[in-house]
Amino acid sequence: MVASWSPQGWRSKPIVQVPDYPDAEDLKSIEEQLATFPPLVFAGEARELTSGLAKVAAGEAFLLQGGDCAESFAEHSADNIRDFFRVLLQMAVVLTFAGRVPVVKVGRIAGQFAKPRSAPMEAQGNVELPSYRGDIINGIDFTKGARVPDPRRLMEAYRQSAATLNLLRAFAQGGYANLEHVHQWNLGFVKDSPAGHRYQELADRISETLSFMRACGVTPEETAQLRTTDFYTSHEALLLGYEEAFTRVDSTTGDWYATSGHFVWIGDRTRQPDHAHVEFCRGIKNPIGIKCGPSLDPDELLRLIDILNPANEPGRLTLISRFGADKVGEHLPKLIRAVTREGKVVVWSCDPMHGNTVKAATGYKTRPFDLILREVEQSFDVHRAEGSYAGGVHLEMTGKNVTECIGGARSVSETDLHDRYHTHCDPRLNADQALEMAFLMAERLKRDRDGSAVAEPSVAAG
Ligand code: PEP
Ligand code: CO
Repeated sequence: MVASWSPQGWRSKPIVQVPDYPDAEDLKSIEEQLATFPPLVFAGEARELTSGLAKVAAGEAFLLQGGDCAESFAEHSADNIRDFFRVLLQMAVVLTFAGRVPVVKVGRIAGQFAKPRSAPMEAQGNVELPSYRGDIINGIDFTKGARVPDPRRLMEAYRQSAATLNLLRAFAQGGYANLEHVHQWNLGFVKDSPAGHRYQELADRISETLSFMRACGVTPEETAQLRTTDFYTSHEALLLGYEEAFTRVDSTTGDWYATSGHFVWIGDRTRQPDHAHVEFCRGIKNPIGIKCGPSLDPDELLRLIDILNPANEPGRLTLISRFGADKVGEHLPKLIRAVTREGKVVVWSCDPMHGNTVKAATGYKTRPFDLILREVEQSFDVHRAEGSYAGGVHLEMTGKNVTECIGGARSVSETDLHDRYHTHCDPRLNADQALEMAFLMAERLKRDRDGSAVAEPSVAAG
């Protein structure tokens, strides 16, 4: 039981990254309305995700978390949702096959609207305006009016999250996730990718396995697990007024749950142990993530773990490291050692995006594919050396063919960035880059698996 906690308790704590609403009464009345709206997710689903993550913590599953940096009202279309879902499923199949473990699929979707910013103001030429903080708060246009926080945006974010989640549930359960179809999409990717020859063998082995299963009578028509999937939603718990409105008591257990999404995380800028975001998250029973950047020291991490998971419940906490490819070796080992020394059970996930953002000569924020891959590889290396389990990845990605990250087999160059640079915040891997990342990670998982296999005892000659 969590001592003296209430969904409003965060309001009396210090807080950073709060929008400056011009009319507090207006905001309050909208939050009160939201508090009467139906929840987006059910507590039982969040508990299932905690169980899935407990398996990840034990090394028996892998976490694939990904989606937009920031969802936007402008890009809310069925095609975008479908294309993202499709790519995430394709990645999951490749990773499941290579890792020989189930993949827990979590989207940064159906609620990922609020953005922490490094600077409160943005300058363009001589004009300075408040920074864009995500569509749930203000508008991205660089005009004075757009940048004023508007509480009506909370309503729109809820409406969009509900519609998105409705479609995702239909896709996950209604036949779209059919394993044989997902594999056909992967074969299409391998055929068309300039680096396809590299992935052909893995794809062929999956084809053979599926044919064999079909011959044995294990088909999507007969087996629900082959035509449906579990899919969960997640977002950063940043805009606490919105989160509070959707924090409800679960009638079956009496516990508080955030019902705005299955999994929420605390960002790297709002994880101060005595501040509002940690206070809010400690009282909800959902699985929680903590972004771990270079400024987090091991003692502070242990303090956060004690506050957020005092019972050391497996699956409750996911530590999402995001150091930058060059800093993993300096920072990750000491965090792992502290966690291991204290016997804390966590999921270790790697976000190779947020520490690898660079500015292209053309002015665009971008991320080189090679650096992203390198952070994943380095994190896997460190976990291997420390004897801990690299349990997952956390990616910013889209199902569309955008040009936001440079590199990849179909090499996006700095001069291509302006072609289809659509993100409302950080640069995302496009569909091909995301799939390529999955195939390359699969090679790595397979190498690790083969390398660590215990040799067969030799039969004594007799
Ligand atoms: C994010 O995940 O979009 C983000 C802002 O990350 P971080 O808090 O790690 O910077
Ligand atoms: Co981001």
